[in-house]
Amino acid sequence: MKVEEIKNDFPLLKNREIAYLDSGATTQKPIQVIDSVKNFYENYNANPHRGAYSLSIEATGIYEDTRAKIAKFINSKHNEEVIFAKNASEALNLIAYSYGMENLKKDDKIVLSIMEHHSNLVPWQKVSKVTGAKLEYMYINDNYEISDEEIENKITDNTKIVAITHVSNVLGTINDVKKIIKYAHKKGAVVVVDASQSIPHMKVDVQDLDCDFLAFSGHKMLAPLGIGILYGKKEILNKMSPFLMGGDMIEYVYEQETTFAPLPNKFEAGTQNVEGVIGLGAAIDYIEKIEYDKIKEMEHEIVSYAIEELKKLDFIELYLTPNLSNHSSVISFNIKGVHPHDIASILDSEGVCVRSGNHCAQPLLRYMGIDSTCRASFYFYNTKEDVDKLVNALNKAYSMFERFLKK
Ligand code: ALA
Repeated sequence: MKVEEIKNDFPLLKNREIAYLDSGATTQKPIQVIDSVKNFYENYNANPHRGAYSLSIEATGIYEDTRAKIAKFINSKHNEEVIFAKNASEALNLIAYSYGMENLKKDDKIVLSIMEHHSNLVPWQKVSKVTGAKLEYMYINDNYEISDEEIENKITDNTKIVAITHVSNVLGTINDVKKIIKYAHKKGAVVVVDASQSIPHMKVDVQDLDCDFLAFSGHKMLAPLGIGILYGKKEILNKMSPFLMGGDMIEYVYEQETTFAPLPNKFEAGTQNVEGVIGLGAAIDYIEKIEYDKIKEMEHEIVSYAIEELKKLDFIELYLTPNLSNHSSVISFNIKGVHPHDIASILDSEGVCVRSGNHCAQPLLRYMGIDSTCRASFYFYNTKEDVDKLVNALNKAYSMFERFLKK
């Protein structure tokens, strides 16, 4: 499929004259995903696991078949290892509360990377404060990567949790999570992977990685907003307490005690986001139709072109690993001396959408000695014209500020 044909599948990209370069925040949705949600409401809407009538049984069937599809997509051994959540943040909070709070104690160590999104950092601060476990960070080197030495210095015998992002949402660095997991397991730690920024772009195989937990959001991979996935190894999930309570996660309730449903329902309190689940199923079909190899090839072409063009602008500072084989589809940059929000507003007036700010990664930016960046994030539907629009708009922004900037 050519990128022009692909763009045709995305109504918003046809309806708006924009270069959408904020897929790291959320991707646009193909018509197949939008239609799957419409079809659910027009033909199958009922509350799964609630009714004995055939419509509800059909809705249950679609809901559970989608769980099986997601399990196959990430290669989990058992369907019940896939838990539906609101988003990656909720899934990560679930792990911190239900696993972290119950299994960590004083003098244990939680090791994070400095490039974590707040959602895989703040919950661990809370666990650390409540349990007395120590929080430590693996820092990045000058190439914006975590060195082997840093991994081995920080993950030690008393490390009980390692929580690491697969791809940084600010730098685009791809962390070698498989290597980190192997090393952490040797030290007896449980590993949590935040795959929010990787799974839209690359195959994620939980058995190959051997991660204990993995979380991602559907909306960053073509699915509707409000649906996320928690993967956990069955033997660990089985030992954990529920995070939220009520609804179908209940087995028996007595006046003073309650027993809980088995996996996966144990972690799915209340009526679920069924339209989100169905939309995620359609998003997976779409990704599988294009195939990850092709996605990688298309993104590589666009991102390499963007890097090449941005490097030609001597007023731009790029925050990017030089090892481009280790880099995903996110490019953070600044115009020296200009606030990123000002740049983003000017780009917006030229029809270019980028994110500006701290990208929910304040400790990383502080460590880098800056407080914000502009971020262009790409997906397979972006074209060289989108990049050209970005470069032209940046030139325009610079020309507006040039006379105020000290050389
Ligand atoms: N976590 C999303 C981002 O990086 C919102 O933009």
